[in-house]
Amino acid sequence: MHHTTTTFLAGLLASTASLAAAAPPRGHHVHAIAGSGTVKCPLVFDGRVKTAAELSEFDSYGTSLFNPDYVKGQSLKWSEIIKFPTGAAVGSSRFDNETLHKPFEVTISDASIFQTQKGFRRAGLQFQGDTNSGSPGSKGIKTIHFSVKWDAQRALNLTHEYLNVWHEAGDYSANQFNFETGAILGQSSLPKDTWKVLDRKNKQIWSTPILKTDWQNFAITLNFDKNTLQVYYSKGDEPLKSVTSAVSNDNSGGGQYQIGILKKPTGTSDVVNAGYQESRLNEGLIYGGLFIEDSTGACVSL
Ligand SMILES: *[C@@H]1O[C@H](CO)[C@@H](O)[C@H](O)[C@H]1NC(C)=O
Ligand SMILES: *[C@@H]1O[C@H](CO)[C@@H](O)[C@H](O)[C@H]1NC(C)=O
Repeated sequence: MHHTTTTFLAGLLASTASLAAAAPPRGHHVHAIAGSGTVKCPLVFDGRVKTAAELSEFDSYGTSLFNPDYVKGQSLKWSEIIKFPTGAAVGSSRFDNETLHKPFEVTISDASIFQTQKGFRRAGLQFQGDTNSGSPGSKGIKTIHFSVKWDAQRALNLTHEYLNVWHEAGDYSANQFNFETGAILGQSSLPKDTWKVLDRKNKQIWSTPILKTDWQNFAITLNFDKNTLQVYYSKGDEPLKSVTSAVSNDNSGGGQYQIGILKKPTGTSDVVNAGYQESRLNEGLIYGGLFIEDSTGACVSL
């Protein structure tokens, strides 16, 4: 179960070039007003965390927006995995209204081993109700929105490949799309320090440099009827703009969205079970503005 499908990727060792320059310190840049975007299409799943939410709410079905049991190291609770970043420098992402919502950070540590997947370090949120079979999120035309912000205190190591947001087919044999960063295994010509959208065949369809101080806002429309994928992007509080056309993509096979971090190892062709991961990991990525809307009639919140 929840066996992320990476084994079909070429198992070549990624570039061994050194890590990109260190990020500026926290608080270096305070963004002006943020969070002026409004959701104008019907919500299918809302992953925006309420300002008053407590971490313990992530641990049970009655209180969490997400599945409290998956996809994480068994010894960890979501309340130990999630952090609420604070400070004016974090601000609000475009679709978070700061009086209603707050950003949250998904982290990984040495204990982030799901079942027997010793090659990965992972913590992935699934919306409650986004069932593996027959989910409303995998029918018609749906747009997943998410904003990310880099945390210099828990920086990702871009020598590795990271999956951050994806939709995995119901039989776990493929991901319809991947939102990734770092050194993509077997694709060393791609720069490491970008956010990338890959199609079902793991071909990059768009990328943008990682900004270390601004929120970056993404939306991906999946048309499950016409088998297309379209990417929208903006930084800070700017309105989203379409950055690809509706490109052809095989969206079949149902399944579930996942949001968080899946860090692949280096030095192996068996990324699920083997390879190298550093110890004493303390990495995270800040998320905001997470929701899925119904894009019937070409409705996309910008
Ligand atoms: C944020 O929420 C408050 C309280 O519901 C509301 O008054 C305000 O208009 C909202 N701001 C935006 C930008 O939607
Ligand atoms: C990044 O990962 C590589 C490969 O696992 C490791 O050799 C290196 O020490 C890491 N760098 C940092 C800054 O953690």
